[in-house]
Amino acid sequence: MANDSVSKTFIVAFLLCVVCSVIVSTAAVSLRPIQETNKLLDMKKNILSAASLYEEGTDIEAVYRESIEAKIVDLSTGSYVSDVDAETFDQKKRAKDPAQSVEIENDLAGIGRRSTLASVYLVKEGSRVTRIILPVHGKGLWSTLYGFLALDVDLNTIKALSFYSHAETPGLGGEVDNPKWKALWDGKKAFGSQGQPEIAVIKGKVDPANSHAEHQVDGLSGATITSRGVSNLLAYWLSEDGFGKFLNRLQRDGV
Ligand SMILES: Cc1cc2nc3c(=O)[nH]c(=O)nc-3n(C[C@H](O)[C@H](O)[C@H](O)COP(=O)(O)O)c2cc1C
Repeated sequence: MANDSVSKTFIVAFLLCVVCSVIVSTAAVSLRPIQETNKLLDMKKNILSAASLYEEGTDIEAVYRESIEAKIVDLSTGSYVSDVDAETFDQKKRAKDPAQSVEIENDLAGIGRRSTLASVYLVKEGSRVTRIILPVHGKGLWSTLYGFLALDVDLNTIKALSFYSHAETPGLGGEVDNPKWKALWDGKKAFGSQGQPEIAVIKGKVDPANSHAEHQVDGLSGATITSRGVSNLLAYWLSEDGFGKFLNRLQRDGV
């Protein structure tokens, strides 16, 4: 067969496609366990960040093992469940399964459904719990923001709020990642005097003289919709339908 014949060109192109697809599929399959491990490691890093236990060079696995206890909570009762493995629990996947999730009636966070169970993370110093980390998520302008809210053991004082996944615009809604803005959350109070979620991102700057200042965080300029999304997702996850029953139970029974 001549080198420049049409049939030889097709045969060579076909064989090349077969060889390339085998290489790509083999790489995808063999790298999947590494990707899963890295995903888990990244999640642990984000949890440690919310616990203020992460800085460049931290041995993530070691610090996580020593300081974090992951637990699963039934959101309808606020009690821990013991028959689900917290290490392999996938809240995102469960939220898509009608048998393992519920439709949200007052959908402040704009997420439609939520898993009946949720993970929570207890930050520990020895046997003493020093912080509680709650996973939260909700709609911004372009995307669903996923993050962690860290509460002090008084279950009211916010220690940190950080988002590890979103697609808001860099410089606008993406300023949720700005360390200066994130620092504004430390010390704010999540709940009002009647125990209702009250923390909110306002439009503009917080006036320290305002009687609600401890429940307010500066708005992101040019990003009112993302700011409102953050307020709304916190209002939902701190409500009775979110982690409210769990937090009430801890308040009653002790952390
Ligand atoms: C390209 C582009 C990207 C934008 N990205 C965001 C965003 O990530 N978050 C947001 O709230 N608003 C974003 N906005 C602005 C909104 O459309 C809207 O104008 C804004 O939320 C109003 O906020 P302000 O009242 O603080 O100006 C974007 C606008 C443009 C044109």
